[in-house]
Amino acid sequence: MARQPLRLGVVGGRRGGSFTVALEHLRKRVRLTAICDLSDEVIGQWKQAHPGIAAFKDFSQMLAADACDAVIIATPMSLHAKQSVAAMRAGKHVLSEVTACVTHAEAMSLVRAVRDTGVTYMMAENYTYMRPHMMVLNMVRKGVFGDLTYAEGMYLHDCRSLVYLPDGTMTWRGDARRDMPSCNCYPTHSLGPVAQWMGINKEDRIATVYSASAPPLAIAAYTRDRFGPKHPGAKPGYWSLGDSNSVIVRTKLGRVIYLRFDANSVRPHHAAVHELQGTSAVFRTQVDVRDEPLVWIDGRSPGGEARGRRKRGNVSYPSAWEKLSKYAADFEHPRWKKHMATALKAGHGGGDFFELEDFIDAIDGRAPSPIDVYDAVAWSSVTWLSEKSEKTGRAERAYDYTAHRG
Ligand SMILES: NC(=O)c1ccc[n+]([C@@H]2O[C@H](COP(=O)([O-])OP(=O)(O)OC[C@H]3O[C@@H](n4cnc5c(N)ncnc54)[C@H](O)[C@@H]3O)[C@@H](O)[C@H]2O)c1
Repeated sequence: MARQPLRLGVVGGRRGGSFTVALEHLRKRVRLTAICDLSDEVIGQWKQAHPGIAAFKDFSQMLAADACDAVIIATPMSLHAKQSVAAMRAGKHVLSEVTACVTHAEAMSLVRAVRDTGVTYMMAENYTYMRPHMMVLNMVRKGVFGDLTYAEGMYLHDCRSLVYLPDGTMTWRGDARRDMPSCNCYPTHSLGPVAQWMGINKEDRIATVYSASAPPLAIAAYTRDRFGPKHPGAKPGYWSLGDSNSVIVRTKLGRVIYLRFDANSVRPHHAAVHELQGTSAVFRTQVDVRDEPLVWIDGRSPGGEARGRRKRGNVSYPSAWEKLSKYAADFEHPRWKKHMATALKAGHGGGDFFELEDFIDAIDGRAPSPIDVYDAVAWSSVTWLSEKSEKTGRAERAYDYTAHRG
């Protein structure tokens, strides 16, 4: 059992600030004790909100000081692996923001650090905890979907306003769009729920990744509209990362997963559009974020070929989607039943609450890390596999990180 309450540090104070509701609820088990950020303004805000918190501008100094037992890594993506490894090698448990890493070499450094140190590592993929996603997981486990064959996950979020600071300086999100070869560089929100439904790294695993990207026209148009046609970013050739990326993942069991990543195109925001197809049910998020997710269950929902055949010879009759919530009484995930009020107050559809609770449980040895290093690197590997596939024009074979499990 770890120290109670656990002392928690945060590196990267902007996203790291969204765990407040979860921290309040879990205050008997975890206490915020340290913050690290490069920005004086951000540090000032944390000191004001949390008097007495130890503040650092240099992450290595935070690790060297005896200021925390665990850290949330919430800095820009390219720093996650390096900072996670440094933290683990300093004996700290790590909850890393997504994605866990951006190259295979970084993935291996994470795997080795977890194996060498034995500390808890978890990737903070909050989309796996969203209410409909956990309900679908519960339904999959109860056999409602039958055998799973196909899934989709789409992250459709026009984030172009985050590419520049108000003074026109490019942020790390802009640097990524300019410098990263076309790929799906943010796959885990889309893939995470699907991977849990399909048992990736359990009964199944990622086998190959094929990728195709559209040209970076929307980001160039945005730059032109905001800064004028003479700005270098007003020309599509300035940008490397395409506007809209499509990935086809094939799994070892032959299932197909379609992933779409688009953080540039003009469209209403919906960062969690999913479908899950099984032999006896289908789940579908609607494209308008205000509309409820849908489900159709053979034998329970209205109409359908199979039920028609069974009940009326060869006659089929029209099937109709139903709201997923209609089945909440039967299939709501038990954790959502228990913590509904608190989870709804936390960020990202409840995800920020459940993932912190799971992280603390894993440190305390109550349960294994639910998104361990092998899940984290496998889900993140879509980034470099899609990058490679764009170059070769082929489906790229995935590496089996679980082979390194002790
Ligand atoms: N899971 C989610 O739903 C979700 C939501 C938002 C962001 N994120 C992830 O969280 C991370 C941070 O995103 P953000 O929107 O807060 O970015 P941001 O650019 O707004 O903030 C990053 C912060 O990190 C600090 N920082 C940068 N380098 C640092 C270093 N070396 N040491 C200490 N601090 C440093 C910056 O000063 C800044 O305050 C990203 O990886 C992003 O993908 C995840």
